[in-house]
Amino acid sequence: MLFFGTGKGGDKSGKEKLTLKDVAELIWKKECQRIVVMVGAGLSTPSGIPDFRSPGSGLYSNLQQYNIPYPEAIFELHYFFHNPKPFFMLSKELYPGNYRPNYAHYFLRLLFDKGLLLRLYTQNIDGLERVAGIPPDKLVEAHGTFATATCTVCRRSYPGEDFRGDVMAEKIPKCPVCTGIVKPDIVFFGEELPHRFFLHVTDFPMADLLFIIGTSLEVEPFASLAGAVRSSVPRVLINRDLVGPFAYQPQQNDVAELGDVISGVERVVEFLGWKEELQELIKKEKEKLDAKDK
Ligand code: APR
Ligand code: ZN
Repeated sequence: MLFFGTGKGGDKSGKEKLTLKDVAELIWKKECQRIVVMVGAGLSTPSGIPDFRSPGSGLYSNLQQYNIPYPEAIFELHYFFHNPKPFFMLSKELYPGNYRPNYAHYFLRLLFDKGLLLRLYTQNIDGLERVAGIPPDKLVEAHGTFATATCTVCRRSYPGEDFRGDVMAEKIPKCPVCTGIVKPDIVFFGEELPHRFFLHVTDFPMADLLFIIGTSLEVEPFASLAGAVRSSVPRVLINRDLVGPFAYQPQQNDVAELGDVISGVERVVEFLGWKEELQELIKKEKEKLDAKDK
């Protein structure tokens, strides 16, 4: 029989490895109620949005058309001021409104609906967590968002929606006040992360369960959060491959569910007995989005 402390320094008495089923048991026995989730681009590939580093399909292997010096330049300020076009071409592809949340997004929404989601930290800029109905106060969009945009000259802030037309028409958005280039509030390499990122200082020590879904954990300071929960707290990785501390420093309470993100999430949902409830939620949300698209 597996004994698992309630996360207050409690520790597994048995020698057996924690399994996904054990984690599901901790959730429905309410031993885990403050769940923090960290996600990356792998969460949204089933929605049709390429990730960054998957060989071949990842964005960073498909930027030839923009003839930029190296992939990350597309998110670098000095290159942006030299030539903003590649970033805006990419923005046209990624702009919210062209894609829909997938099964895994709605699992995270169900965690929220059940009062189990302490916070969702996302590196994604597709905004699909909001579209899935997770409220902004439960979200930390660590690498920014298209929801707002800032003039690079006078620093005025605008709703991202104001420039959707320009981006879709492949026109560089200009500030109506000073005519400076307006950049969506996507965090570029070297830029400050949003202030909300610093909620991690209290969220991670409070967490009693951590899910890490669809990320290579290659980019700091986001990646280090994976090591910020207490050592007794289970960490569940749902990802195609072992990444970050799951690869180089696995802990006793780590669970790695490797493979496709949707099948991994389906297994968790199955163990939790939430299958029908989640299907119902997805059906309702799809009807809402269809009505909006009319
Ligand atoms: N199922 C399971 N895993 C998947 C799937 C899938 N369908 N699709 C992708 N993955 C995995 C990949 O194998 C990889 O481990 O998700 C991870 C995605 O990693 P990245 O492409 O590096 O994306 P991410 O971790 O979000 O990148 C972080 O890099 O350039 C920056 O700002 C950018 O936010 C981004 C950051
Ligand atoms: Zn301006």
